[in-house]
Amino acid sequence: PAPGWSITADVVVVGSGVAGLTAALRCEAAGLRTVVVTKARLDDGSTRWAQGGIAAALGEGDTPEQHLDDTLVAGAGLCDEEAVRILVTEGPDAVRRLIETGAHFDESAEGDLELTREGGHHRRRIAHAGGDATGAEISRALVEAVRARGLRTIENALVLDLLTDAAGRTAGVTLHVMGEGQHDGVGAVHAPTVVLATGGMGQVFSATTNPSVSTGDGVALALRAGAEVSDLEFVQFHPTVLFLGPDAEGQQPLVSEAVRGEGAHLVDADGVRFMVGQHELAELAPRDIVAKGIMRRMQEQDAEHMFLDARHFGAAMWEHRFPTILAACRAHGIDPVHEPIPIAPAAHYASGGVRTDSRGRTTVPGLYACGEVACTGVHGANRLASNSLLEGLVYAERIAVDITDSHADDGPHARVPAPVEHPERPAHPLLAPEARFAIQRIMTEGAGVLRSAESLAKAADQLQRLHTEARDALDENGKTAEPGVDTWEATNLLCVARVLVAAAALREETRGCHWREDHADRDDTDWRRHIVVRLNPDRT
Ligand code: SIN
Repeated sequence: PAPGWSITADVVVVGSGVAGLTAALRCEAAGLRTVVVTKARLDDGSTRWAQGGIAAALGEGDTPEQHLDDTLVAGAGLCDEEAVRILVTEGPDAVRRLIETGAHFDESAEGDLELTREGGHHRRRIAHAGGDATGAEISRALVEAVRARGLRTIENALVLDLLTDAAGRTAGVTLHVMGEGQHDGVGAVHAPTVVLATGGMGQVFSATTNPSVSTGDGVALALRAGAEVSDLEFVQFHPTVLFLGPDAEGQQPLVSEAVRGEGAHLVDADGVRFMVGQHELAELAPRDIVAKGIMRRMQEQDAEHMFLDARHFGAAMWEHRFPTILAACRAHGIDPVHEPIPIAPAAHYASGGVRTDSRGRTTVPGLYACGEVACTGVHGANRLASNSLLEGLVYAERIAVDITDSHADDGPHARVPAPVEHPERPAHPLLAPEARFAIQRIMTEGAGVLRSAESLAKAADQLQRLHTEARDALDENGKTAEPGVDTWEATNLLCVARVLVAAAALREETRGCHWREDHADRDDTDWRRHIVVRLNPDRT
């Protein structure tokens, strides 16, 4: 749709989690005219829901080198070692700067940071806040800083597409805004630099720990703009999500890895600790191994879930250390002080995303990506627990430095490129909002924790049918569904689901969080490589 209003900026940041707000604050501090646009309210993204914490070599005796080793092992041979080295060496200072920005982490009586453990970490290196409310505290501190500095923000603004100039350089974004006064309806922010920090795509599956806003909008925009996207097949399923029944849909309560980090046991229906003997770290093995261990035992026992037993913590520890999880369990009629918690794996994190270099640059000039939407190379085939907040922080700061340096070359306010129309580009066949649920069911059945050539082929066919129906309707009427946030979300979910399924079908091996029932082994001869996808924007 043609924009009805427009504003101009040096930088537009799309998304308001840890990555987006960090990038925005740093750009603004460097004197760049920065606008933050976000789909719902400033604190409505995934960051707010993060429980366990933020990993960094901050403890006595810990080193970035040890953090690097644990990250590479979890990543199952596909991490970019240089990207990880940047993450772990710049991480500790980035966390200290976050503390200077106003985030309060839990401390011991002596005033040292309290650190916990999570799966795949050989040391206590996870800083946390409010016990198990780390993301909420980080979000609070960053939102307050953004407000205190008077940064320009536009909420309820769903990003639609990237604008580019005649040379293919970034020229801004189009947005669909609801109820923001002068910025209502479809409009545009013209800017030579766009930072995508739109988060993940957990809503592509029926049950996920992600909030309802995590619909792959940034990856879909990048694909439509012709940017390269990598590693989409590596969807991480969190091992311990509160089990609310086989048909539970949408966002599900997380039971943090930190609960296992503090000594909780995974047990089956007979009370047997089934992870012992499967891995030297037992319940604290990397996340993919624990999720597989749970799924295997569920299959063996024909059970819908397993249990997490932390009754031995006692009431005082539960209340002090894990108040959020305790409240969520009790709200669903489970009291972890007196009974084991029913848990099962659910979709949690997209290890892949829009491919970037070590400065956060994508393959489209002027377009950057950071946080879950990005694929910087640090996660490989399976992200190490609590590396995601850290990645958002470190790479957002690197992006701000790179943008500031390029603007310094171009003068204080760079020229805003004039966007060009692409008359040959087909209109988007927008999906009806209900398609979201069909996509989630198709993906959960065909491309969930367990995948095979057969399940993926069936999913690909069903998704293709949804696409063809929308395209045919477009050809017949010139219109498919009323444009609006839910139609765009369904459309974006379909776009990312199709690419995810294609990548998962191509990768004929089991590696990290990609588990193929028909190719049970890791294949380092043929598959120690990435699947990189680039769509032709004139044909999508
Ligand atoms: C958790 O608290 O278990 C989540 C940590 C993460 O996803 O990194």
